[in-house]
Amino acid sequence: MVRSCEQEIPAWVCVGTLLLLIHSVTVSGAALKHDVALDSGATVLNHTMNLVHRMETLLALGNGSDVTLRVETINTDEVKVIQAHSLVLTLQSDVFEELLLSRNTSSVVLRETPDCAAIFEKFVRYLYCGDISLRLDQAISLHKLASKYHVWGLQEGLTQYMTQHLSSDSPTGHVVGWYNYALQIGDITLRDSCLQYLSWNLSSVLQSREWGFISEDLLLSLLQRSDLILQSELELYEALEGWINQNQPVRMTVESALRAVRYGMIHPQHLFRLQKHSPLMVKYYESIRDLLYLAFQFHSASPIQLAKYFDVNCSIFTPRNYLSSAWGSPWIINNPTRDDRSFSFQTQLGPSGHDSSKRVTWNALFSPRWLPLSARSTYTELGAMQPTRTEGGRPRIIVTPATSSPDFAGVSFQKTVIVMTKQQGKVVVKHVYNFHQSTEEAGDFLLDADLQRRASEYLIDSSLYLHIVIKPLYHTLLVARK
Ligand SMILES: *[C@@H]1O[C@H](CO)[C@@H](O)[C@H](O)[C@H]1NC(C)=O
Ligand SMILES: *[C@@H]1O[C@H](CO)[C@@H](O)[C@H](O)[C@H]1NC(C)=O
Ligand SMILES: *[C@@H]1O[C@H](CO)[C@@H](O)[C@H](O)[C@H]1NC(C)=O
Ligand SMILES: *[C@@H]1O[C@H](CO)[C@@H](O)[C@H](O)[C@H]1NC(C)=O
Ligand SMILES: *[C@@H]1O[C@H](CO)[C@@H](O)[C@H](O)[C@H]1NC(C)=O
Repeated sequence: MVRSCEQEIPAWVCVGTLLLLIHSVTVSGAALKHDVALDSGATVLNHTMNLVHRMETLLALGNGSDVTLRVETINTDEVKVIQAHSLVLTLQSDVFEELLLSRNTSSVVLRETPDCAAIFEKFVRYLYCGDISLRLDQAISLHKLASKYHVWGLQEGLTQYMTQHLSSDSPTGHVVGWYNYALQIGDITLRDSCLQYLSWNLSSVLQSREWGFISEDLLLSLLQRSDLILQSELELYEALEGWINQNQPVRMTVESALRAVRYGMIHPQHLFRLQKHSPLMVKYYESIRDLLYLAFQFHSASPIQLAKYFDVNCSIFTPRNYLSSAWGSPWIINNPTRDDRSFSFQTQLGPSGHDSSKRVTWNALFSPRWLPLSARSTYTELGAMQPTRTEGGRPRIIVTPATSSPDFAGVSFQKTVIVMTKQQGKVVVKHVYNFHQSTEEAGDFLLDADLQRRASEYLIDSSLYLHIVIKPLYHTLLVARK
């Protein structure tokens, strides 16, 4: 429900002016006073809901109507007739104002696409009442109408609604449709929210019906991203194969898509299988032969050895955010503000066949109220004068290897902490924190999360739901060398 009557039409403007026209509308004198809120010690008599109800009736019965809206559905002979009031329409929309000024009959003809015509009454009702109820599949049509008629408050409310309902359940999926719409109208904020949602929730998207319907451009732009959150690269390859089977794009698209898969991140045993049993790979083998060869070279020896002999400059050795257990671990922290916590987990040393059976043990330390040393000394000095100021620390997470090993030479471990939240009853990604290069600490960790508040958006049932991903990077393989 989007409510914005208060900002849209100051109630007294509606009432005051309408009364001149429609004698049947009577509202108690108290509600008409302009100084309701200003006068301290005064009592507010609030009949807003009454007014809204009267406006609704006015539209439904059409009493005192001075303009007929004829809503024609494009390419059909369907027409809807709505008895309206030019004052109300003009109040909300300068497009209507223009239309009404330039007309020479008592009716105005509006041509709308079928989806917009279907919800036109809902739209007009909003103009009268300032509230609207809608379903996921009506958001785009309403947004189109709000944009066409310059009803900016409604348009803004709908953009906000879409941003907040990305994770809502819908039988056929809606985020891809919203993404395409945002792209078409040039709404960068909405487009990026959709793209981020798809990137951060890729495993679910890959399994949904919606996946088969994503556009070529969206597919290719997702495949380029290193911040995708999904189970594994193999999962991505298999979903790509499904998309290609369903969409049968031109050869060039298939090749670009296949070349964006990070084969170095797929274990050789799976690569062997794909090479023989994936019809897509069999068919396009020649187009990716160089990448597969590189991947097998990567898997066969220490990546450091590989780098000694070959200049490599491509993304197939860059991990994305994989959730499978070789790459990291979930960590749930109950009542995170209580005290410091620690946690250990193991990952593979690296994704290459040479390293993936070697294990690294990691220690993670979480502090809810950590004070940097510099701040701490200041507080101690101040402490004498202001003994009550003990708060002020902020959440900190440190992830370090439990032991050191010569195997770590040439590898830097990029760490990522994914924080989950609950939206519409579902666990979704709230924020992703990347540690800078090879440091052990994420500088901005939970900077905006108010963990003291039980209702903090970063908590699920008073617990912090984290997933730590360790991404081994062989810089020698990634940095272009002269
Ligand atoms: C009047 O009541 C409505 C809901 O009944 C509320 O939204 C609005 O804020 C109230 N206005 C004032 C001035 O109290
Ligand atoms: C509105 O119009 C209907 C019929 O057109 C009439 O019955 C009704 O009394 C009118 N309402 C008011 C408040 O004038
Ligand atoms: C009224 O408008 C219609 C189209 O909008 C135009 O064809 C017609 O000539 C106009 N009539 C007068 C009297 O202005
Ligand atoms: C992804 O979206 C699905 C469906 O909306 C939801 O059930 C799931 O919890 C989401 N997961 C994440 C990690 O965002
Ligand atoms: C390495 O790849 C990047 C990105 O594709 C490119 O901009 C750069 O020119 C490449 N460097 C070399 C030496 O090929």
